[in-house]
Amino acid sequence: MTPARLPRSARVPDDMRRDFGRRLRTWFRAHGRDLPWRRTRDPYRVLISELMLQQTQVARVLERYGGFLREFPTLDAVARSRRSRVMEAWSGLGYYARARNLHALARTVTRGTGALPSDPTELRRLPGIGAYTAGAVASFAYERRAPLVDTNVARVLRRVFAPRVDPRTTRGQRTLWAIAEAVLPRTGRATWTHNQAIMELGALVCTARVARCTVCPVRTLCRSARHAPSDRIT
Ligand code: ADE
Repeated sequence: MTPARLPRSARVPDDMRRDFGRRLRTWFRAHGRDLPWRRTRDPYRVLISELMLQQTQVARVLERYGGFLREFPTLDAVARSRRSRVMEAWSGLGYYARARNLHALARTVTRGTGALPSDPTELRRLPGIGAYTAGAVASFAYERRAPLVDTNVARVLRRVFAPRVDPRTTRGQRTLWAIAEAVLPRTGRATWTHNQAIMELGALVCTARVARCTVCPVRTLCRSARHAPSDRIT
């Protein structure tokens, strides 16, 4: 299949990519939150945090993450456990399909190599792993140069680069993924910080309710902030 041509508005010049990335990562080093899943590169621990964070607030995940890992310290421990036990340990987080899928994933992986793959395409073949989670595990655990787009990242990219596409369409989503890829740093090592930083900017500064442009590290590059240089409710 030939990939659809991306709109001109989705192209990111090299100097803008570098400037965007540098500003973002410098900001993150100073302002990013110290969260337990940012202190590990263990693929299993990264996976658990990303599954939990998909539909649950950070504060709620913080209450549950450590306890879950004490009961299930490895993917193998999940695979050996009964599914009902994994579901119980998930209680309070909601969206139990995630726990069901995790159990299926653990059994699939332990029947195979025993290790979570580092390649996003391979990760996506596992139960419950979508494009976002594949990018998160690949970049956070394995330092792969893999993009990721969740709602926070999509919002930041839409505001900063303002591609002329409808984000609700397939083409719009493809465009946002292409921009996320285009702005990645050149190395996998810097990708960890880059991907955490863009998510953190969406969580703390460029939020759904308010864009805090006055404290934003990329406001001088932002196509939306040019029209509204002070904080704005969107
Ligand atoms: N939401 C999803 N992944 C996250 C992460 N790694 N840190 C903070 N919030 C997140």
